[in-house]
Amino acid sequence: MKGIILAGGKGTRLEPLTLPTNKHLLPVYDQPMIYYPIHTLVKAGIKDVLVVTGDIHSGQFMSILKNGKQFGINHLEYAYQEGGSKGIADALLYAEDFADSGPVTVILGDNTTDADISPAVADFKAGATIFLKPVADPERFGNPRFDKDNPKKIVEIIEKPKTAVSPYAVTGLYIYDQTVFSKIKTLKPSGRGELEVTDINNAYLKDGTLDWTELKGYWSDAGTFPSLFRSNRFWAKKKLGGQYGAVVKGNALP
Ligand code: G1P
Repeated sequence: MKGIILAGGKGTRLEPLTLPTNKHLLPVYDQPMIYYPIHTLVKAGIKDVLVVTGDIHSGQFMSILKNGKQFGINHLEYAYQEGGSKGIADALLYAEDFADSGPVTVILGDNTTDADISPAVADFKAGATIFLKPVADPERFGNPRFDKDNPKKIVEIIEKPKTAVSPYAVTGLYIYDQTVFSKIKTLKPSGRGELEVTDINNAYLKDGTLDWTELKGYWSDAGTFPSLFRSNRFWAKKKLGGQYGAVVKGNALP
């Protein structure tokens, strides 16, 4: 199993923070954001990793991540996505050679989680596995609709619906077999002009090969100010433990 971190885009929703750097290098408590998805992959035993990035700050990734040895990565590659914000599915297309006809675990560079995805990675055989998480604002994400008679069966995934059709977000973590690349090549840009990851997942659904599991633990993206703030707060609390209260109140730490 190889790992792919998608860290492109312009991060316009986080301007002006994203004027001097790429969104995925912004701090989440004490580390650049992209460290978190790297740790998620390495914890699942994935040590062959590709970072897809682009735009004017792309050079910064290499000086920060270097050859990946500091994270326990054996082999780190970089790919450059042309043309800025053409979507997650477009970015993934740059990983076709890297995947070398094998399965890939894909994670969005602004998704942080303390969940252990090793069991899903170890159990994966073919098709696609996606990770769902109940959230307060499912209309902000890919949102799955379930079969009325079979509440575990997804019948459709809707990208950012006006009104949510279930309490679940499709998180930015996906395991795909090698058919993902031929599926992407059949996609058309969405209303926002992007090749959507939701359309990849719907293509697997149409094939009858989409599986899902619930992500256990904390999960959030960090592409907006509220979600970036939420991610910072969660990781600060987790890492500081009982000292968090003292830090936010401004008291001196022992
Ligand atoms: C993207 C995907 C969406 C997914 C989300 C997870 O949304 O399009 O399906 O639920 O990542 O973070 P975006 O980053 O465009 O808001």
